[in-house]
Amino acid sequence: MNIDAIIDQLGGASAVQALLGVGPSAVSNYRIRGAFPEYARVKIWQALKARGVQVDPETLELIGAVAEASSPQTTASTAASSTASSAASSGGVTAPSILLIISGGIAAYKALELIRRMKDKGWQVRVIMTKGGAQFVTPLSVSALSGEKTYTDLFSLTDEAEMGHIRLARDADLVVVAPATANIMARMAQGMSDDLATTAVLATGAPILIAPAMNPHMWANPATRANAETLKSRGMRIIGPDSGDTACGEEGAGRLVDPMAILSMAEQMLPGQTPLKNRRIVVTSGPTHEPIDGVRYIANRSSGKQGQAIAEVLARHGAEVTLISGPVDLPPPAGADVIRVTTAKEMLSATLNALPADAVICAAAVADWAVDGAGKAKLKKTPGQPPALTFVENPDILATISGHPQRPKLVVGFAAETETPVAHGDDKRRRKGCDWILANDVGAEAPVFGADDNQVHFITAKGAVTWPRMTKHAVAEHLATEMIKELTHG
Ligand code: PMT
Repeated sequence: MNIDAIIDQLGGASAVQALLGVGPSAVSNYRIRGAFPEYARVKIWQALKARGVQVDPETLELIGAVAEASSPQTTASTAASSTASSAASSGGVTAPSILLIISGGIAAYKALELIRRMKDKGWQVRVIMTKGGAQFVTPLSVSALSGEKTYTDLFSLTDEAEMGHIRLARDADLVVVAPATANIMARMAQGMSDDLATTAVLATGAPILIAPAMNPHMWANPATRANAETLKSRGMRIIGPDSGDTACGEEGAGRLVDPMAILSMAEQMLPGQTPLKNRRIVVTSGPTHEPIDGVRYIANRSSGKQGQAIAEVLARHGAEVTLISGPVDLPPPAGADVIRVTTAKEMLSATLNALPADAVICAAAVADWAVDGAGKAKLKKTPGQPPALTFVENPDILATISGHPQRPKLVVGFAAETETPVAHGDDKRRRKGCDWILANDVGAEAPVFGADDNQVHFITAKGAVTWPRMTKHAVAEHLATEMIKELTHG
């Protein structure tokens, strides 16, 4: 492949950066490697075709007049580097290549689940383990899941002969450090290269995602905070840590985030990975306020955290998201258009206005009743005579959307239940005519309304699956994974 000629045909390095959503160093790396990452091949082929350039879709070899016009010298040199580049590049379109760095810590076992999830996506996963990481999980288990050799040693002659550490770093489309200890973050922030992991981090041109896991005091320590800020200021992304009980018996921020959340962030960081692109999704969220008079209202304890997490995660997956939110105290979620409403009636009309859509997710805690005849004037207090409020039923937004002539392909509701959540949730799914229900047990000891965590039962026509208790963000990631399957393959 004559990579320089292709870059020229696409309008130069900055045009390629814009096309693939990468930085200048990535394009320089492609030139050094003599190959584009495999996942970018289709995009490049389509962009060349759109410019009227004839190109072989398999090899990206330019064909005809353009190929002849390309400098023979350049062709020769890039052909050599192309041969040296990864064997995968000679085939058709293949998956992105991830370099996963596992550093030491009890959370290292969760990296196994992360590898499994990445492999489910069809990604190539190469793993470097630090000495500490190898104390918690064995390279053998890692290799069994990744299907690749696991690298541990900077000075291994065999490893260097098979795949030099620079190539390991350069071939990656994304580097993920999970779990990241305080130690590796400190060494990364200092630019050290005293083991294979830190050397690869220094040598890579790929984006880097860090998922810290450590004792809460270590995470809170000013030294770690400063290191995290330094890494962020260099463009690295940090996800988590989550709060809760940690393995060392202390409570606070320090737990590795759910592997699904790491997966989703990794997916977002891979250029061109937006599985919900061109999908319109409407999310209702938060409580509704139903006025009693001009100054008083009836509300519930929904904070909007669950609905907003869903909106944010779906937007990150490339969806065009409209969030219809009742009154909440949260900042607007990144990437979504927000429509603010107060009452159930307003929420219904905003939701109908947002149609057509590919999916509607009703996460809002909509008031079932409104006060009959509520006016603007403040009700006067008459001692000994409290007002007798009467109620009228509010419209059911979920049921209305499920039976609407413009019904989206996928309609999802929540169910807030205080007993037998699966049975009641499934009953709600049938009665309201939606496809899926996420039933949460709001009567359980652990709070759901306003909390950061949730435990839901995912109910479809096929049955119910109980997801473990996790952050609302992770619930959103799990839901997004199911939605991607449904909307893109179903
Ligand atoms: O906002 P958080 O603090 O993060 O809390 C999250 C949550 C508990 C609010 C959320 O997880 C949740 O369960 N939302 C639905 C709460 C609810 O109203 O459940 P329900 O069982 O009363 O309603 C069932 C479904 O019908 C829901 O999808 C609801 O949005 C919808 N509905 C209900 C009444 C109505 N008039 N219109 C509706 O669309």
